Parts: sequence; C-alpha cells; structure tokens
Amino acid sequence: MFRADLLRHKRILITGGGTGLGKGMAQRFLELGATVYICGRREEVLKQTAAELSEATKSAIHPLACDVRNLEAVEAMIDSIWSAAALDILVNNAAGNFIARTEELSARAFESVIGIVLMGTLHATMACGRRWLKAAHAGTVLSISATYAPVGSAYVVPSAVSKAGVEALMRSLAVEWGNRGIRMNAIAPGPIPTQGAFSRVLPRADLEAVALDRNPLHRFGTVEELANLAAFLVSDESGYINGEVIRMDGGEFLQGAGEFSNLGRVLREEDWQAIRPKKSGPAAKH
Ligand code: HXC
Ligand code: NAP
Repeated sequence: MFRADLLRHKRILITGGGTGLGKGMAQRFLELGATVYICGRREEVLKQTAAELSEATKSAIHPLACDVRNLEAVEAMIDSIWSAAALDILVNNAAGNFIARTEELSARAFESVIGIVLMGTLHATMACGRRWLKAAHAGTVLSISATYAPVGSAYVVPSAVSKAGVEALMRSLAVEWGNRGIRMNAIAPGPIPTQGAFSRVLPRADLEAVALDRNPLHRFGTVEELANLAAFLVSDESGYINGEVIRMDGGEFLQGAGEFSNLGRVLREEDWQAIRPKKSGPAAKH
C-alpha cells in the first residue's frame, strides 16, 4: 500500500524494537527504505532480531542495549546514534505491563511500569527533542499508547496512569514544538497478539475469548496492520497530523462505551421480533 521509498533517508529509533509490535514496525520501516535503530534491555534478543530483519530486508538495522528507565543510558544511546547522523523519527514503543489487583501492588511494581512507559518515553522524547530544536532539525515522534489511556482501566493501573501521561506529553509538545517542525502523534491499539503482551495481560484462553467476544470485528488486530498505520504516521505523507491519538481496535472502545451496544450480543432474531410492536389498526395497512 506504500511506495517502496516512502521512508528512504529516514533514520528511526524504535524503543522496545526487538520484539512484538516494535519488531513489526522495524521490519516495515526497513522495507520502506529507512535506517532503523532498535533498543531494549536484552542485547541477545536485539541482536537476533537485527540479524533476522537485515537478512530479510537487506537494509540497515542497528541493535542498541539500553534501559529507557535510565536517563544517562538513554542520553548515551542517543549521543551514539547522533555521532553518525541525526535521527528523524522516534517511536516510543517500549512498555511494561501485567494484570494485578491494584491494592496488592508494591511501590516497586508501580515504579517499574511507570519508569518504563512514562519516564522512558519522557527520557527518549526529551533527548531527541532538545537535539532537534537546537539544530532546527525536523522531527517526528510516535508513541504507542493503549485504548484505556483516556478512561483508565481496572487491573492495569500502573500502565493506565503511564499511558495517560504519555498522551498528555504528546498533546502538549505537539503544540509547544509544532512551530519548530516537530510532530507528535500516538497510536492506541486494541489487543494484538504478541508474546510479551498476551502472556502478561491475557494469560488464559478464557480471557482471550472474552476479549474477542467484546470486539465488533470478532478478531484481534495484526502486527502488520499496526506497522502500516505507524509507517503512515511517521512518514511525511501525514505531515498535517499533529497531536492526535489514532485508535486502532476494530471498534472495541466504542462497543464498551455505547449504552445499548451489548444488545447485539444478547438478543437473537426471535427476541427482536418479540420486542417489535405488533402491526394493527390503520398504520398496519402502510
Ligand atoms: C504484581 C508484580 C507482577 C505481577 C511484577 N511485579 N510482576 N506485582 N503482579 N504480575 C512486581 C515485582 O514483584 C516487583 O516488585 C516489581 O513489580 C518489579 O518487578 P521485576 O520483575 O523486578 O521488574 P522488571 O524485571 O523490571 O520487569 C518489569 C515488568 C515485566 C514490567 C514487571 O513484566 C517486564 O519486563 N515487562 C516488559 C514487557 C511487557 O510488559 N510487555 C507487555 C506490554 S503490553 P517487588 O516489590 O516485589 O520488588 C501493554 C498493553 C497491553 O502494555 C494492552 C492489551 C490490550
Ligand atoms: P512486547 O513484545 O513485550 O514489547 C515490549 C518491548 O519493550 C520489549 O521489546 C522489551 O524488551 C521492551 N522494554 C521493556 N522494558 C524496557 C526498558 N526498561 N528499556 C527498554 N526497552 C524495554 O509487547 P508488545 O505487545 O509488542 O507491546 C509494544 C507496545 O504496544 C507497548 O507500548 C504496549 O503497551 C503497546 N500495546 C500493545 C498491545 C497489544 O495487544 N500487543 C495493545 C495496546 C498497546 P526488553 O524486555 O528486552 O527490554
């Protein structure tokens, strides 16, 4: 669906790019001509992904071990990238999450997730943003959020507060930095099967079945669908989109919000027939 050179000459860092959605975006960006950097905590995972994707796409991918919770480590990574040339695009994708009853969470559990999702996004965004502003270099930031960011969600509270913060950061900077050539957007995906996410937030078949049942399309999203949307949003073709969160969930969010939207899953044909007023009197003739 895209020109093969859509991202040619674009230099992109994807945090958490060694697995799951980050890996899928890395592959798509490479196919579209970009030079890609991926970071994560596990060097072996990054190296394996880089080897696999460079073999598949014949494009340049650079694995960099970095814990985004650590500001100094992020600054050092960004310095090392900039020593070759400036980045053009940052994708804040690294995350931590798990389901738990909130009253049972320790302070460290909160810190761990908030550190990765909110502080990690802040560290990487500031490190790139300051360099772009100083050099008057255009930049684009795409953050991967979640559909529950604006409304919150039970059982994933550290993630919900962090993703809400990520969206606030993105909307704020879209305005503050927009006049200097920096665009900021986010994607809020619904469930997309990845080992990292599903093992932690939908760890049983019955939980997956509930998630499928509440989705109007009765399926999960795919890594390819996410990667294509991301490619569009980081490309110059979406140059007038700034400060937006694009929800990509098959309509799941709206299904949950509509007062009567559940009726389609409860009422059968005979129920609708029984509810319908019986035709009688003059109106029945028309
Ligand atoms: C309660 C838990 C817990 C759990 C960890 N902790 N898992 N508490 N229930 N299931 C607590 C630990 O006991 C510890 O607190 C603290 O959290 C830190 O745990 P560590 O294992 O030491 O942390 P760390 O090794 O840094 O690992 C971070 C992590 C882990 C977030 C806990 O899950 C991780 O590495 N995640 C990365 C990948 C990931 O989460 N991907 C999913 C993204 S999906 P104490 O007090 O005991 O020391 C997503 C959206 C999904 O974000 C939406 C789907 C629709
Ligand atoms: P994933 O495979 O677990 O991806 C998370 C990545 O983040 C991993 O590569 C992990 O690598 C990296 N990471 C974690 N902590 C890090 C840290 N401190 N520093 C650097 N990297 C770190 O899960 P995913 O499903 O692809 O999730 C990707 C993004 O999509 C996340 O932002 C998630 O919230 C979002 N999302 C996913 C879904 C879904 O259904 N899949 C739905 C909504 C939103 P290391 O462990 O090696 O560090």
